[in-house]
Amino acid sequence: MNKIGEKRFFVTGGAGFIGSNMVERLIKEGAEVLVYDNLSSGDISFLKKFENLKEFKFIKGDLLDKEFLYETMKSRHFDAVIHFAANPFVIKGIKETDLDMKQGTMATYNVLESARKADVGEIMFASSGVVYGNAGRKPTPEDYGPLAPISLYGASKLASEGLITAFSHLFGIHYYTYRFPNIIGKNATHGIIPDLARKILHNKTELEVLGNGKQAKSYVDVEDCIDGMLYVYNNSREQNNLYNLTTEDQVSVNKIAEMIVERFNPDCQIRYTGTEQGWPGDVTNVLLSGSKMKELGWKPKYNSFDAVRRSIDMVYSMLIQEGRK
Ligand SMILES: NC(=O)c1ccc[n+]([C@@H]2O[C@H](COP(=O)([O-])OP(=O)(O)OC[C@H]3O[C@@H](n4cnc5c(N)ncnc54)[C@H](O)[C@@H]3O)[C@@H](O)[C@H]2O)c1
Repeated sequence: MNKIGEKRFFVTGGAGFIGSNMVERLIKEGAEVLVYDNLSSGDISFLKKFENLKEFKFIKGDLLDKEFLYETMKSRHFDAVIHFAANPFVIKGIKETDLDMKQGTMATYNVLESARKADVGEIMFASSGVVYGNAGRKPTPEDYGPLAPISLYGASKLASEGLITAFSHLFGIHYYTYRFPNIIGKNATHGIIPDLARKILHNKTELEVLGNGKQAKSYVDVEDCIDGMLYVYNNSREQNNLYNLTTEDQVSVNKIAEMIVERFNPDCQIRYTGTEQGWPGDVTNVLLSGSKMKELGWKPKYNSFDAVRRSIDMVYSMLIQEGRK
């Protein structure tokens, strides 16, 4: 059953990478969408093509401005909140130790509290496989525990998941929580592929790669990410949902670096910084179990390797269009 086209969605972080892809899909399916975003890491140009549509509205606002958030959420009746807004950079939490507490945990509390008061019945939440920390079981299933995040970003995702289950239990909001590995593809502004592409354009002789290159992770194309989120939303018969949304293969960091060099500049040398982790808080081996989503009837169109190849081609073409290659 497709319930998207009949609904009105409040999308936090809808000007960001994953959020803008979600907005595009919702509009295509006939839904009404309000994007609430402070543009701290988002890009308003991703939403330009929707600006004259009556079913689309953009509000520049901060989730930490609780009053304005609530006023905006109660301005119309919304069927569901899709909550993407957060600090996207795991590494930033090392220097600014209250960043994820504010932009992740507190922001999620404000979203839930506004939804409660404005009578919004459903929330979809972009969580992450980092809540598992260095899990002792691979592929890691949803019921793995104890959950022991190793970054403040991960801790804030876990805290946000807890707030969502508590609000659900106490006030009846239905939830769809998704744990992603790495999401890549159209409109990506950060993450390993845009980062390495920027570096190789800046320094044509040497590509610096964080870590020893042996980190192995799963990658999901953003098209699959959105498709999987909405598949669960449309097809699950449960009122409350927790799903890994993942591919089931891994690509190593050195493979990605080699593919970038081959595509951008085959003469460039790769230099690894050499540590096991790319940065403190980096989970070096990520492999989530996709069995639960498969049982529901969904699997991704692209595996990690194909998603990486597509994403590198996309970044390459974009940079050529911009005349930077
Ligand atoms: N990209 C990934 O690989 C990945 C993996 C797992 C989970 N996630 C989660 O998915 C969500 C979206 O990630 P993304 O990669 O699209 O990041 P992004 O930075 O592109 O998008 C985040 C958006 O939220 C907005 N925002 C941030 N703080 C805000 C605030 N206080 N008030 C209002 N707007 C605010 C930003 O301007 C941006 O548009 C995040 O919650 C992220 O933690 C992403």
